[in-house]
Amino acid sequence: MKYATRMNHIRASEIRELLKLTEQPDIISFAGGLPAPELFPVRELADILHGLASREGQSFLQYGTTAGHGPLRETISRRLRQTQGVRIDADQVLITNGSQQGLDFAGKLFLDKDSVLLCENPTYLAAINAFKAYEPRFVTVPTDRDGMLPDALAAVLERERDVRMIYVIPDFQNPTGISWSAERRTQFMDIIKETDIPVLEDNPYGELRFEGETPPTLMSLDKKGQVIGLGTFSKILCPGLRVGWLAGAPQFITRLELIKQGADLHTSHLTQACIQRYAECCDLEGHIGQIRTLYKSRRNVMLDEIRCRFPDEADIVPPAGGMFLWMTLPRHVNTRVLLERSLDRKVAFVPGGSFFHEGGHENTMRLNFSNTPEDRIPEGIRRLREAYDAM
Ligand SMILES: Cc1ncc(COP(=O)(O)O)c(C=O)c1O
Repeated sequence: MKYATRMNHIRASEIRELLKLTEQPDIISFAGGLPAPELFPVRELADILHGLASREGQSFLQYGTTAGHGPLRETISRRLRQTQGVRIDADQVLITNGSQQGLDFAGKLFLDKDSVLLCENPTYLAAINAFKAYEPRFVTVPTDRDGMLPDALAAVLERERDVRMIYVIPDFQNPTGISWSAERRTQFMDIIKETDIPVLEDNPYGELRFEGETPPTLMSLDKKGQVIGLGTFSKILCPGLRVGWLAGAPQFITRLELIKQGADLHTSHLTQACIQRYAECCDLEGHIGQIRTLYKSRRNVMLDEIRCRFPDEADIVPPAGGMFLWMTLPRHVNTRVLLERSLDRKVAFVPGGSFFHEGGHENTMRLNFSNTPEDRIPEGIRRLREAYDAM
């Protein structure tokens, strides 16, 4: 049997493997990137789904259009205007099966074997895995607590001749929780606009800001139509319905639509209509507000507990939104070993080294605070300290 060469680059994600372990009921898991299930509007969504299937089943159980359910595209276009000040018409929105599918499609659209993809360091692991299928060369651009370093970006662009796409997560990044400052965003766009390189702005967490001012998105600063926005309902409603979107200039969206046609014809018509009905008839904005409030208090509990139990050892950048907290331990600590000790004590997290394309940074770790109830967080951090002391 001979498999395609691209399969040589595609491996099981360490995090997915880890998540299998954390499915045991008695484990306190800070490992996954799961939203708080307590807030899923289960009753409303169940009623809507039942109503759609029973009263309008002949329409919503039929094939739909590749670009997506028209009213939902309108809703996304309106919300982009309201939340980001971005003027994107509904026909510049392509509905995808979660934003993860959008990552794959962007890779398919822009990347050839050995062409260059620029990304942050560290970055979202499942994006790297999606892009790997197209066999690009990954070039990372250093970041600090304010985002991508403009001088480093300029230097890379000067050096690299075949950059096809820049992939960034400026809002509450996965894994670091860092949000780029407004100044860095402007500097980034000033550099980019001198090129024709498309930018994929992955923004699943932007609406989960619970403190501070909202800086402009790259899309809202884009005057040339270079930025493609990647969005999702996974973190503002629920991930199980698998509805996300790509939004951008028509030249991109028409091509991405062709890719979608070849991949799966369209995203489930029923789940798209369900989300649209929820946005129409229920209080989506109020719901997002509830998520922010809950995540803020979970973040506070985790932050306080870490400061108390690791007063000298932990360096943390307190996230102002999103779902993740990034912790750096003293240099000699290897968090992969710490994870083994932690799993013995039934607590889990993701070792930070996994998110760095070039390796290293083994003393870092990602902790998720959205998915653990407040009364369990202190116990999880206590066990983590115990594991640390056992090393
Ligand atoms: C940065 C980032 N992008 C994309 C995704 C994919 O999300 P979904 O496919 O559920 O929209 C995630 C999921 O955690 C993520 O963290």
